[in-house]
Amino acid sequence: TLSALTIKPVAARIGAEIADIKLSGDLSDETIAAINASLLQHKVIFFRDQDQLTDIEQERFSKRLGNLVPHPTEHVRNGTTSILELDSSRGGRADAWHTDVTFVDAYPKISILRGVTIPEVGGDTVWSNTVAAYDSLPPALKATAEQLWATHSNAYDYAAQRPHASEADRRHYEEVFASTVYETDHPVVRVHPETGERSLILGSFVQRFVGYSKSDSEQLYALLQSHVLRIENTVRWRWRANDVAIWDNRATQHYAVNDYGDSARVVRRTTLDGDVPVSVDG
Ligand code: SIN
Repeated sequence: TLSALTIKPVAARIGAEIADIKLSGDLSDETIAAINASLLQHKVIFFRDQDQLTDIEQERFSKRLGNLVPHPTEHVRNGTTSILELDSSRGGRADAWHTDVTFVDAYPKISILRGVTIPEVGGDTVWSNTVAAYDSLPPALKATAEQLWATHSNAYDYAAQRPHASEADRRHYEEVFASTVYETDHPVVRVHPETGERSLILGSFVQRFVGYSKSDSEQLYALLQSHVLRIENTVRWRWRANDVAIWDNRATQHYAVNDYGDSARVVRRTTLDGDVPVSVDG
């Protein structure tokens, strides 16, 4: 039952920690349903001390929430069917606001991230609630956003989007991440298939708005994205090794804070198959 979980909100608008549960065990269907319900409500949920969770157990648990889908271009970790390892020493620094893999039509619905090696200090991740961001738009801007479509691609202008990236990170991006170019259009406002909530689909894979020039797109993007970036709509997580964060990729953006220099940071991610976003017009 729902009340079986111990759920503590971390921030008022997004994020909750769920205590006293091991994700590596054999969880009942009721517990899985309660985890999913909590995810839909809080958008990102956190679990500490998941030291039993191996790669295989992470995949096994993930499959209880949906169908595993590997990253379209990145290497799948050896011995797994779908795990993406983000290693800071090999360009794995997601320090741009984004929603995972929005450059494909049916992008992942959920991501599950496990902390493997965490810096002594720094390397937090910040998530924003894109439903709260939509809700905070004035009615006239909501109406504009609801009619707007955006082109997303993994071939975005890396130098412009991430001016602080190192040479190695840029090379990784070109040789691996954008080795095959994907491009798709999504509505800027999507209706969530489970909650019916409206959220903004933006993030660093957006190239431009359909029917807008590059420079008009940039200004309108900045205006809409400013509502995603409002601190009130975010939660920041101080990682420890063996933490697990699960986010609703249909209702969030996130940013991995790149403030730990050469310290090691390794996290492993699974993603679950999503569906093609539906606009307010159906
Ligand atoms: C990601 O963008 O999925 C990874 C976030 C992180 O490394 O904290």
